[in-house]
Amino acid sequence: TSRSGVNILGRPYVFDSTTNVTESILGLVGRKLYDTPNHPIAITRKLIQSVFRPPRFEHHTAADPVVSTNDNFDVLGFPADHPGRSRTDTYYVDSKTVLRTHTSAHQHAAFRGLRHRGDSGYTICADVYRRDSIDRSHFPVFHQMEAACVWKLRPPKEGIHTRLQQQDARAHHIRSNTEGIPRHDLEIIDEAGSYDDQTNPVQIVHDPDEAQLVVENLKRSLENLVQKVFVAAQAAQPDVKHEPLKVRWIEAYFPFTSPSFELEVFWQGDWLELLGCGVTKQEILDNAGLRDHIGWAWGLGIERLAMVLFDIPDIRLFWSQDERFLKQFKQGQITRFKSFSKYPPCYKDISFWVRPSPAAASPIGAQSSSGAAAAAGGDATKASPADTQPAAFHENDIMEIVRDVAGTLAEDVKLVDEFVHPKTGKKSLCYRVNYRSHERTLTNEETNDMHEKVTRKVAELPVEIR
Ligand code: PHE
Repeated sequence: TSRSGVNILGRPYVFDSTTNVTESILGLVGRKLYDTPNHPIAITRKLIQSVFRPPRFEHHTAADPVVSTNDNFDVLGFPADHPGRSRTDTYYVDSKTVLRTHTSAHQHAAFRGLRHRGDSGYTICADVYRRDSIDRSHFPVFHQMEAACVWKLRPPKEGIHTRLQQQDARAHHIRSNTEGIPRHDLEIIDEAGSYDDQTNPVQIVHDPDEAQLVVENLKRSLENLVQKVFVAAQAAQPDVKHEPLKVRWIEAYFPFTSPSFELEVFWQGDWLELLGCGVTKQEILDNAGLRDHIGWAWGLGIERLAMVLFDIPDIRLFWSQDERFLKQFKQGQITRFKSFSKYPPCYKDISFWVRPSPAAASPIGAQSSSGAAAAAGGDATKASPADTQPAAFHENDIMEIVRDVAGTLAEDVKLVDEFVHPKTGKKSLCYRVNYRSHERTLTNEETNDMHEKVTRKVAELPVEIR
């Protein structure tokens, strides 16, 4: 945009050379779908909350998506060169400020809120923002729900003196909390049962037995969540023959938990990746004033879950303000979405040559120069990925242009052709944009108009339109 700054939810921000937020993205800030009664996002949130209940769990939302890079990345232990920090993946308001890419950006503040609550926890639900591909399951704004839970060392009582005895008392509490979680005849495949010391270690500061108790509480809690949510989803589809529910635990990696896991659910013939979780890094708890606590955290994408629960085929529908969509859902109920008539797609191609970037043209030169810079402690090591203007073409730049021009009228963008010219070595790419509305038939004129705008903007990237 040509503007030099913007107001987001009443707060002013000044753009700088890092800024890559667009008007169309900012236009989606503040919709609060998670607080809209009878909306599938809110229904899903409530269903999850019913498993993680007060008084142990306090429920939060965070309307303002603007957070510091410190909260989104640094305090969570993201390394300086983590790809998540890159401008191709993340929306920067300015060099120190982003639209949160996950609800974990609020961990520090939320943990601070638990300081005087002893054994306690929270859930948080919010909109999150990521630059990504365009298809039916990806939209640059989506919703996450996150929860965390901590146990405090037992305060010394009569007859309990040593730290070890306090720890024993805490272990007893964790164990009895776990015993209180309903068990089900869910089939559980645990591929991360004896997690690896090298790839997925218990933190050195933790007692391995105690960490294991936390892991068990985490896993049983989430299996209970799956049971509750997916049994409701099965009931909403009585005409479908359902297999018995099956889940799978696999090892994962997050900078802010260790050990870390992913939970998958077998749903209609496929493994569905549901969530990430793990034992919270002790440093994060310590920094938030929870030195004597241990605990777990998990986070999941609500749309992905809601799409299977309600049988919603396209992620853009969540943003629909069409009555034919909104009228179908009722608070507290999982019902199957009935698609209203489908309007025709309109495919338009865009082809261009990618100018070889200097680095790509001379891989050897590029390697030695960055190696030299690294050895000398020069710019290449200091610059965060956010500071470096992308010189080379990145696919997400096309995605962003289409998003900005077409908004929810773009259904998907696919790379349909790619070849390298045998003589010049230049690469040709062809992307196909599918323009389609869920609410009406698009006119020829308006699709042509949109595509012309897209083409004009793509021409400003480091490419040559063919
Ligand atoms: N924030 C992680 C994500 O967006 C999910 C997560 C949350 C993982 C909490 C572990 C603990 O993928």
